[in-house]
Amino acid sequence: MINFALVGVGHIAKKHKDAIEKTDGAALVAVCDTNPERLEEYKDYQTYTDLDEMLKVNDEIDVVNICVPSGLHYPLTKIVAEHKRHIIVEKPMALTLEETEKMQQVAEENGVKLAVVHPNRFRPAVQKLRKAIDDGLFGKISHANATVRWNRNQAYYDQAPWRGTEKYDGGVLMNQAIHDLDLMLWLMGPVESVQGMAATRLRNIETEDVATAVVRFKSGALGVIEAATTIYPTNLEESLSIFGEKATAKIGGKTANYIQTWNIEGITQEEVLALQKEIEKNPFGKPGHQWIIEDMVKAIEEDREPIVSAKDGIAPIQLILAILESSKTGKAVKIN
Ligand SMILES: NC(=O)c1ccc[n+]([C@@H]2O[C@H](COP(=O)([O-])OP(=O)(O)OC[C@H]3O[C@@H](n4cnc5c(N)ncnc54)[C@H](O)[C@@H]3O)[C@@H](O)[C@H]2O)c1
Repeated sequence: MINFALVGVGHIAKKHKDAIEKTDGAALVAVCDTNPERLEEYKDYQTYTDLDEMLKVNDEIDVVNICVPSGLHYPLTKIVAEHKRHIIVEKPMALTLEETEKMQQVAEENGVKLAVVHPNRFRPAVQKLRKAIDDGLFGKISHANATVRWNRNQAYYDQAPWRGTEKYDGGVLMNQAIHDLDLMLWLMGPVESVQGMAATRLRNIETEDVATAVVRFKSGALGVIEAATTIYPTNLEESLSIFGEKATAKIGGKTANYIQTWNIEGITQEEVLALQKEIEKNPFGKPGHQWIIEDMVKAIEEDREPIVSAKDGIAPIQLILAILESSKTGKAVKIN
């Protein structure tokens, strides 16, 4: 049995708890939050208000899931790694490249595994798209498009002081669009350069609520990014489109779960309809957090890297920081 603990038991921690409970070979044993009120819902577990103390007194914990505000991911990862426990960290991995790299390093130095919560890759429609690309069905790819048109109103940002801040949250790119950007990078490969523009148009926050960018991938293909939390009056779309010499595909809906367009050379309309029906039966697949938890259990048992590892966590952060730098300087930014 692999024993898990949660640190930070706010909104997203509930998904971690449910996923651990559904995973064979995993058990939730302890939770920690600096706010004792948040611990009241977790009376069935050992509760702590200090992470270091939890790990000092409790040596049965194998993995700690870090679910605190994003700007605290690095310092808490460091504490967990130094106690030689494995780590699942929420997205974004951290808000600076320096911190993501230190997280990777501290995990390696202490011989612990680090997984980042980017589970949308496991969604049925996304898996089909990845397979079609891997099977060469697109031929040469000309370009891709990632669009996140969501609504996060002022009340959302006002619910906790860390939201919308540069130090602890980041803007629409770091907090919301990062899932779609992770998919774009996973499907299209690394980015060579980016030109971006970001603005704070409608919300009273420090960070951007709308951003656009054009990218050139190392493959030579181009990409267009649009991300906003300003969409009136509610979430409209999260989508990913890929255009190749022999295929056009768009995965969309409000959270990029459905196959909206699937025009692939040699694939008949009946086959497309059957595929769309198959996806519609179960568009979300297994809950995303469950994939990540199950994979961590297997990674420990098989002593291998988690599927979504530190390097996967770093890639979208590099892209986002390059978009923001380009927006400030007005110049294209190269990514190494
Ligand atoms: N994967 C996803 O789809 C997804 C969705 C929402 C949020 N998130 C990420 O999860 C993280 C948390 O977001 P949330 O919406 O749950 O936030 P939240 O504000 O609801 O909860 C954060 C909790 O962390 C606690 N906390 C703060 N500092 C702490 C510390 N030093 N030690 C212990 N506890 C501490 C707070 O008291 C709070 O209970 C963020 O990084 C966010 O980006 C991911």
